[in-house]
Amino acid sequence: MLNLKIASVTVLLCLSSGGAWAQEQIINAYGRDSQSLNGEWHAIIDPYERGRWDMWKNRKPQNNNEFREYSFDEGLTLNVPGDFNSQLPELKYYEGTVWYGRYFDIPEPKPGEKLLLYFAGVANVADVYLNAEPIGHHEGGFTPFQFDITDKVKGRDNFIAVAVNNNRRPDAIPAMNFDWWNYGGITRDVFVIRVPEEHIADYYIRLDKEDPELIHADVALSTPSEGETVTLTIPELKISRKLITDSNGKASTSVKAKKLVRWDIDNPKLYNVTLTTDRDTVSEEIGFRNIRTRGTEVLLNDRPVFLCGVSFHEEIPQRKGRAFSDADAAMLLNEAKDLGVNFIRLAHYPQNEHTVRMAEKMGFMLWEEIPIWQGIDFANDSTQAKARRMMSEMVNRDKNRAALAIWGIANETRPSEARNAFLAMMKETAQAIDDTKLISAAFDNSNWNKDSKCWEITNDAALDLVDVVGINKYVGWYDNWRVDPSEMSWNVKREKPLVFTEFGGEAQYGRHGNGDAKWSWSEDYQAELYRKNLRMFENVPNLAGVSPWILFDFRSPTRFSPLQGLEFNRKGLTSDRGERKEAWYIMRDYYSTKNKNR
Ligand code: GCU
Repeated sequence: MLNLKIASVTVLLCLSSGGAWAQEQIINAYGRDSQSLNGEWHAIIDPYERGRWDMWKNRKPQNNNEFREYSFDEGLTLNVPGDFNSQLPELKYYEGTVWYGRYFDIPEPKPGEKLLLYFAGVANVADVYLNAEPIGHHEGGFTPFQFDITDKVKGRDNFIAVAVNNNRRPDAIPAMNFDWWNYGGITRDVFVIRVPEEHIADYYIRLDKEDPELIHADVALSTPSEGETVTLTIPELKISRKLITDSNGKASTSVKAKKLVRWDIDNPKLYNVTLTTDRDTVSEEIGFRNIRTRGTEVLLNDRPVFLCGVSFHEEIPQRKGRAFSDADAAMLLNEAKDLGVNFIRLAHYPQNEHTVRMAEKMGFMLWEEIPIWQGIDFANDSTQAKARRMMSEMVNRDKNRAALAIWGIANETRPSEARNAFLAMMKETAQAIDDTKLISAAFDNSNWNKDSKCWEITNDAALDLVDVVGINKYVGWYDNWRVDPSEMSWNVKREKPLVFTEFGGEAQYGRHGNGDAKWSWSEDYQAELYRKNLRMFENVPNLAGVSPWILFDFRSPTRFSPLQGLEFNRKGLTSDRGERKEAWYIMRDYYSTKNKNR
């Protein structure tokens, strides 16, 4: 019984604070020299948290008087990357700890080299062990983290163990209740990055907020080494600029780029950018564009653009699992492209880099957010610290992406002193790293003013924090047509651009009839709902875009009706089997009329 008692104490320590927090993540991880650890991992399902005691030591009996209650060998295996819920029927609803373990060989680091163990994402809490040593802890299922394992690896038979926990918690982000599947697991790529001890750790290269030909570059070395030369080259722009680092190992420059072709939705131009020191070289494709607002317009490269949007979750509905690869990204993004979309709100959390980078190459503007989704304990210091770190991890990962147009700071939160302070902190955190993107939030606290026949948001200070107002409103679904759509309008921050970040209703693909009944879940009802919303949007004076909820039907444990496809939210324009509903065609035709004169 003693073991059990000690184990439970150890569990509390690991699950609450754990070992060292992950260190700042390296920029452009996928562009580095690396060895993949993707593939089949051993796994042990540990609902009673017994493994925290010593499972990560992966010990074997040393003599006839010993035994082990566990073994990673010969047992269950799980594919990495990938959620565990969709890999085994018995894990469909599982919330708890799953231990992952695998052996790997790796060429030992040469003198002056570093090895960084990089996780692109683990849902939601990871405690990582290497060769029977705890090496770190990370919380947050949608942002990358890394650990320096230079002094912890050997050439052969390394054993890595990861305790992955997806229990929902009141102080977590998201918290206890959310309308998507609580997928757990090592859901994204894992690899070991090999870099020189002094390497190019971070850079931020972007076009000036207003000047169409002025590129700014900030570079940071991994060590505070002064007087180092970093060469920035953009061959196609005939740019080659030498920067000299300061006592912090950092350097900045601004350089005019004549004849620069700006990244745009109809010409997603990317340039090959390389940074070199005498020890390290790193390259990637970067786009340069200006995005800002002017009155009620969003300007992309100084020209008004109407945001023809859609959202999707990071999920492949046909597989009923998390998306994680280029092929998955292509499936989701091609469906958006066919719809005529130029803007994607990646709901409700930072999605994997395959999706973000492919979206940029395809010419989509993006909205990214961390899952500040209802029920967040804004007054809780621990929650605030987690939000600050997650926001920083997201913005640091994607700050060089020209496709990123908007950092979202919240989804459907209620005004309060704590919430307003929290959102201000989120905005400040994002802009401290990257102030070239717009800031928005999705508000669902509008009220009907029957005299003016307008929806309004009265008395919400957070509206002053955003550049673009996001509105979630389900007229015809969660709310009714109190007047004819042609008479209904919106009076929210009319001096700012307003985007409907969510609207829509549910339908089972193939179900027809009862077009006037919500309970029908018919395509007819959904289509009519879309026609009415589009009619209402004509009355919104500061309308700058729309983004229906949602592209695909998606899984949610909060949807209980067998008649409507049990455990699926059916607001998709496309079914979970890729079938396009009538409303899909209504939105495709609507988008085809936009940005004609751009
Ligand atoms: C909310 C929420 C979505 C949710 C949607 C719905 O607006 O932001 O995440 O799925 O409502 O109820 O379908």
